[in-house]
Amino acid sequence: MPDTLKGLTIPDLAAMKANDEKIVALTAYDASFAKILDDAGVDFVLVGDSLGMVVQGRPTTLPVTLDHMVYHTRCVARGIRRAVLAADMPFASYSGPAQAIDSAARLIRAGAHMVKIEGGQKRAEVVHALVEQSIPVCGHLGLLPQSVHQVGGYLVQGKDEKTAQAILQDAIILQEAGVSLLVLECVPATLASEITAALDIPTIGIGAGPGCSGQVLVLYDMLGITPGKRPRFSRNFLQGVEDIPSAIRHYVEDVKAGRFPNSDHSF
Ligand code: KIV
Repeated sequence: MPDTLKGLTIPDLAAMKANDEKIVALTAYDASFAKILDDAGVDFVLVGDSLGMVVQGRPTTLPVTLDHMVYHTRCVARGIRRAVLAADMPFASYSGPAQAIDSAARLIRAGAHMVKIEGGQKRAEVVHALVEQSIPVCGHLGLLPQSVHQVGGYLVQGKDEKTAQAILQDAIILQEAGVSLLVLECVPATLASEITAALDIPTIGIGAGPGCSGQVLVLYDMLGITPGKRPRFSRNFLQGVEDIPSAIRHYVEDVKAGRFPNSDHSF
């Protein structure tokens, strides 16, 4: 059979953790940016439902539909040759195994290699069902934007011992259920390091300090074009460089070298 997987694979990302090589990740929402990221050596590209906020101008990710995600995943897939491509399952598209498989299948057919879902133990059955269908899954713990109304805001999670232990337990449950990768958003750096050490699978941090296996940022945040205040955990990589490809290359170099994030970008 011809080898059609010419780029990185999900097992390659696991090998990067084993070899202590940082995984560089960014979000993308269209083909042109996806190609710039791919050419610059970004290992993992996420079509994030953050597109609801940075592309659609909504206050949360909740209005994003599966149709929106399929459209943007198809666009981004056209710009990718090397990176692993993940797509977010949007709010209320994975309430149970059957719905989750239907939703994920549409994203995989649009060109995603894996899907990302938010939540811990309560998602274990859905993760298991997806993996049984050979659909790779990325978990997402810590700050969960799809739960913003339940939590009451975009707040750092796991700051006390009890909630930190709950996130660690969720991470272990997700790994046992079959996730291949885990995003940790806005958790204390010490907790992210502890989770990364406890798991075999790679962790990808955002506002989670330098101890994760890799780092992801929302593309528009790291280019300094998101309206409003820059999140503390981000940096404007466009500042002082001549163009967007140079900014992305600097980000790749800084994450690979362990220069970003540092304690200034951590909780
Ligand atoms: O939607 C998104 O962009 C994300 C990242 C913040 C990880 O989930």
